[in-house]
Amino acid sequence: MAGAFVRVAALADLHCTKTSQGAFQNLFTRITEAADIAVIAGDLTDYGLPEEAAVLAKELTSLRIPVAAVFGNHDLESGKSVEVRQILTDAGVKILDGDACELQGIGIAGVKGFGGGFGRHALAPWGETIIKQFVHEAVDEALKLEAALARLRTKQIVALMHYSPVQQTVDGEPLEIYPFLGSSRLEEPISRYPVSLVFHGHAHRGQLEGATKTDVKVYNVSMPLLTRTFADRPPFRVFDVPMGDAENAQPTLAASRGRRATDAIAS
Ligand SMILES: [Fe+2]
Ligand SMILES: [Fe+2]
Repeated sequence: MAGAFVRVAALADLHCTKTSQGAFQNLFTRITEAADIAVIAGDLTDYGLPEEAAVLAKELTSLRIPVAAVFGNHDLESGKSVEVRQILTDAGVKILDGDACELQGIGIAGVKGFGGGFGRHALAPWGETIIKQFVHEAVDEALKLEAALARLRTKQIVALMHYSPVQQTVDGEPLEIYPFLGSSRLEEPISRYPVSLVFHGHAHRGQLEGATKTDVKVYNVSMPLLTRTFADRPPFRVFDVPMGDAENAQPTLAASRGRRATDAIAS
């Protein structure tokens, strides 16, 4: 642990396939060097196959720090999420689905989330039964996030999800798919609890940073987005999360304090 800070590495959308052997080892080694804990915001696998999870589990032996993750939509594609979860849990990953954990003193509340769109254009539970079911899924995920947040008593809380809670970090994607990239309903619980940081993935072509209405910072840590934006760095971000008693101690991107070892998106 780096003194009064815990260094939190964040990334998403690994999309590990059956042929990804060796593809993540260098990345995970770099994360281990740069951070104290890691969070992964979903789409760990490409088709949600146990074989893919087994490949990822082997890669994860290079990630020698505590790690928490949520599932993404891809992790559910093959209907084998129970097996995938077991394989990754056995590999040491704390998979969160409406629950919370504490890593190095930082509380992490995790949920997959769901779509439905943002703000006044969000889908409403009205009309056809299937539309109501769609909205109900988003409401249910928001309630799960709220329940997870309610369990935490740590000074610093990370909200981890696959879908975005705000529109800003999906801007840049085709407008037509916004409703499938996130839901404002996920923003509501974040505003009701003392959340320090929000991470999500899923919007591979979105924006890096946004904020909730109550000014909680939201980071899209999708690997394809980070790779495109920071071509000369491995695709993860590192945040210094203060662990002291100072009031209003805000997490910062590691680079903003000028440390070479954990520069910005890591070096
Ligand atoms: Fe993805
Ligand atoms: Fe996704």
